[in-house]
Amino acid sequence: MTTQHTKLNGWVREVADLCQPDSIHWCDGSREEYDRLMKEMVAGGMATPLAKRPNSFLFRSDPSDVARVESRTYISTSRKEEAGPTNNWIDPAELKATLKGLYKGCMRGRTLFVIPFSMGPVDSPIAKIGIEITDSPYVVCNMHIMTRVGTKVIEKLGADGEFIPCLHSIGAPLAPGQKDSSWPCAPLDQKYICHFPEENLIWSYGSGYGGNALLGKKCLALRIASAMAKREGWMAEHMLILRLTNPEGKRLHIAAAFPSACGKTNLAMLTPTIPGWKCECVGDDIAWIKIGPDGRPYAINPEYGFFGVAPGTSYDSNPSAMDTLKENIIFTNCALTDDGDIWWEGMDGAPPSHAIDWKGRDWAPGASEPAAHANSRFTAPARQCPVICPDWEKPEGVPIDIFIFGGRRASVMPLVHEAYSWDHGVFMGATASSETTAANIGAVGNLRRDPFAMLPFCGYNMADYFGHWLEMGDRFGNHAPRIFYVNWFRKSPEGKWLWPGFGDNSRVLKWMCERVEGKVGAVETPIGLMPKDGDLDLKGLAVAPADLAELLRLDADAWKIEIADIEKQFGQFGDRLPARLQKQLDDLRKRLG
Ligand code: GTP
Ligand code: SPV
Ligand code: MN
Repeated sequence: MTTQHTKLNGWVREVADLCQPDSIHWCDGSREEYDRLMKEMVAGGMATPLAKRPNSFLFRSDPSDVARVESRTYISTSRKEEAGPTNNWIDPAELKATLKGLYKGCMRGRTLFVIPFSMGPVDSPIAKIGIEITDSPYVVCNMHIMTRVGTKVIEKLGADGEFIPCLHSIGAPLAPGQKDSSWPCAPLDQKYICHFPEENLIWSYGSGYGGNALLGKKCLALRIASAMAKREGWMAEHMLILRLTNPEGKRLHIAAAFPSACGKTNLAMLTPTIPGWKCECVGDDIAWIKIGPDGRPYAINPEYGFFGVAPGTSYDSNPSAMDTLKENIIFTNCALTDDGDIWWEGMDGAPPSHAIDWKGRDWAPGASEPAAHANSRFTAPARQCPVICPDWEKPEGVPIDIFIFGGRRASVMPLVHEAYSWDHGVFMGATASSETTAANIGAVGNLRRDPFAMLPFCGYNMADYFGHWLEMGDRFGNHAPRIFYVNWFRKSPEGKWLWPGFGDNSRVLKWMCERVEGKVGAVETPIGLMPKDGDLDLKGLAVAPADLAELLRLDADAWKIEIADIEKQFGQFGDRLPARLQKQLDDLRKRLG
């Protein structure tokens, strides 16, 4: 493939001079390209074809390279304050010098792949073009599924179209004759996931896994895009998008932000347990939202596939995901069964009596470690999802009626509450909290504030991001979506989930829709509006009344501790914190008495 794009050609030449690959391959996005790379990876021992799933492959990563690395992720702006207190920061000149040292000769013995990709349908006016350079054929195949790759993107670029350069290396050059490992990567202290939002530039080094390496996703579509969106007056959010149709045929669109591994994919593909309601998936991880000609917020899913959490996915919890996974899938760090299928904890039925675990060792039920890594994932084409919304590729997106925030909290946060106003809703998003998960390398189960589920993904000062949300609300005016906060993860003192979750979450969505349509009332509480007795549709649900009471219980003492923690959180932003949020905090404190 050739292009007349001088800047692109120049950049590829410059990177090749620095990284010194053995060869250069321009990706055309074709099936032949995918098949050839997979065949080579199977021959090299990196991938295992799965007898039970056509055109599907299992990869096992290096045990040090199993998730995003927030501790090695940088927002590199010329002034530290622009990155803000919640991001790691290194001066751009210093960071670039370090990275150039690492990139020097880092692709020796390997092929440099040039991946032209589009975030969003190629013809959409909202779409953005990225060019990822990588030395990982695994990344190329994943990008084929997760983004729109190939010749049509080069054609759209023309001779001088705009693109976001995304440079990636696994950081593992090969000496002549050196045998490759099955998952080459660099050690943790040499991994760098760098963003230069002032020049729309991404440099990633040392990891081959997920968001560290598939640069269209978190790096471009969230960190760089959030900074662009702030400058240009739109929104880039860590949100699923779904269409809910009620029994009368009325459609509502919901966008929901939960932190990593806190339920977006599952809610996006929900199978309602209440009769007559239908849910369709527009996207499961990222939403780009712009104001339409009618003044309403319109959202597109910039991705082309799902990079979903495997453990816990089953016909019981998420049948639509299971049906998506029948063919053409890349599985990473799942277990391998003796009959050539994958397996993970929480799949339907009894565990296999023997499997090969994600580290390649024999495994049997009762083993001391899980067979699949907690952050094992599937890479699946979105079009294979049986409940994909017919409008999921609509260039102008779908109009959003409801925003939901949430997180994983064993206590304190009720099942659902509604904001009194836009500002109150922004406060809810800004103070969202969650226990950490295996989606990041680091401790799991630690409670932290994760504003708008964007803590690891905001490409600029979080206080300014709060301000942007307030400003967007002003621009939406009376088209502003209603805002709710949910917690599917409240537990009993014995540690069991109080709420059944998954398909039954439709009951909570139904209440939201009825609130929007003015069909049900609500109880005013200090923290927000909550369902009145009898307003949550619980028909056919076996939740003990005591559990339901606990799910909706407001623990005033616990909330006072929340307030103190929010004060601490807000304090880190100094006078950059919007006064409107400080007012919300003061109002909440007063309401709690
Ligand atoms: P990322 O891809 O990391 O952004 O994650 P996500 O937000 O899409 O999370 P996902 O839907 O993959 O869910 C993560 C884990 O939470 C899985 O193990 C799910 O089984 C579990 N989970 C999702 N929804 C629910 C729920 O409603 N209740 C309970 N108890 N668990 C849930
Ligand atoms: C997340 O961590 O929110 C993910 C997975 O969606 S990754 O692509 O690795 O960021
Ligand atoms: Mn995510």
